[in-house]
Amino acid sequence: MNQPNDISSSFDEKSRASLFLGDCLDFLRTIPNESIQLVVTSPPYNMRKEYEESLEIDRYLEQQEIVIGECVRVLRPSGSICWQLGNYVKNGEIIPLDVLLYPAFKANHLQMRNRIVWHFGHGLHCSSRFSGRYETISWFTKSDNYTFNLDQVRVPQKYPGKKYSSGPRRGEYSGNPRGKNPSDVWDIPNVKSRHIEKTRHPCQFPISLVQRLILSMSKEGQLVLDPFMGVGSAPAAAVLCGRKGVGAEVVEAYHQLAVDRVQMALQGTLPFREDKPVFIPTEGLSVARNPWTEHEGDKGGTSQRNKASIE
Ligand SMILES: C[S@@+](CC[C@H](N)C(=O)[O-])C[C@H]1O[C@@H](n2cnc3c(N)ncnc32)[C@H](O)[C@@H]1O
Repeated sequence: MNQPNDISSSFDEKSRASLFLGDCLDFLRTIPNESIQLVVTSPPYNMRKEYEESLEIDRYLEQQEIVIGECVRVLRPSGSICWQLGNYVKNGEIIPLDVLLYPAFKANHLQMRNRIVWHFGHGLHCSSRFSGRYETISWFTKSDNYTFNLDQVRVPQKYPGKKYSSGPRRGEYSGNPRGKNPSDVWDIPNVKSRHIEKTRHPCQFPISLVQRLILSMSKEGQLVLDPFMGVGSAPAAAVLCGRKGVGAEVVEAYHQLAVDRVQMALQGTLPFREDKPVFIPTEGLSVARNPWTEHEGDKGGTSQRNKASIE
């Protein structure tokens, strides 16, 4: 059974999770300097989702700059900040928010290590531009001496049996037996209606996306902060990875869901999609067959083909 201090409602570095109900700036001001190893967040996008009022872009950027400044203050010298963002759309024009916010991170003397492209398969279908199917994660560090454990997040090679064809290592396997670097383009399904992690929140982080950041950029027992935690995907992922989750959320219903999900993570009952390759249907799956090009004789397919190529 969990102890009562597993989840605290104010900042407590000894608790497995500190989940604050209220404005993130009020919460951040209670966190000591240089205590957090990793900040990972997806702030409001200024897109008039059910939880946000749309602000003029300059006012929005000013507010974000204040939160970024506080996140830098609480960050340990070996720590990282991962700011996940999409586009702001105004009168049909897209405005990439990560580009607008880059100066705020540089003003705080942070160094960018990657601009990770998070690619996903589902979303709105556009008719006046190409449908948007990626967002970015801007990864910054506070110093050159930063934590990065690549071995924790390697992914399977496409051709693990490939060997050197010449040179002194001819005949030996050429890949790393632990897998390859996942690169800076990540194909992870977004949390839509039939996703196992779906709650009533309109734009949740997939747990496995946050886990990659946590496993590579922090160590066990360290603190992971999401100042805009929504339904608590980041603190829940932190707990699943043996770290401590810290977060704030202004909407009471989301905060309660965050508490519930972190509790489930602590108990090992939180449903989540593991970090595995995206499902690619083959033609054997009836909905994957093209009804407009199918020949009469092909109808019915064979059960052998009724399989996905990657489970
Ligand atoms: C893009 S969502 C983040 C969702 C989150 N990544 C998850 O997995 O659920 C942004 C969240 O920030 C919350 N929010 C907006 N302004 C806030 C503030 N000033 N302080 C704390 N939370 C805030 C919103 O209610 C919303 O749930």
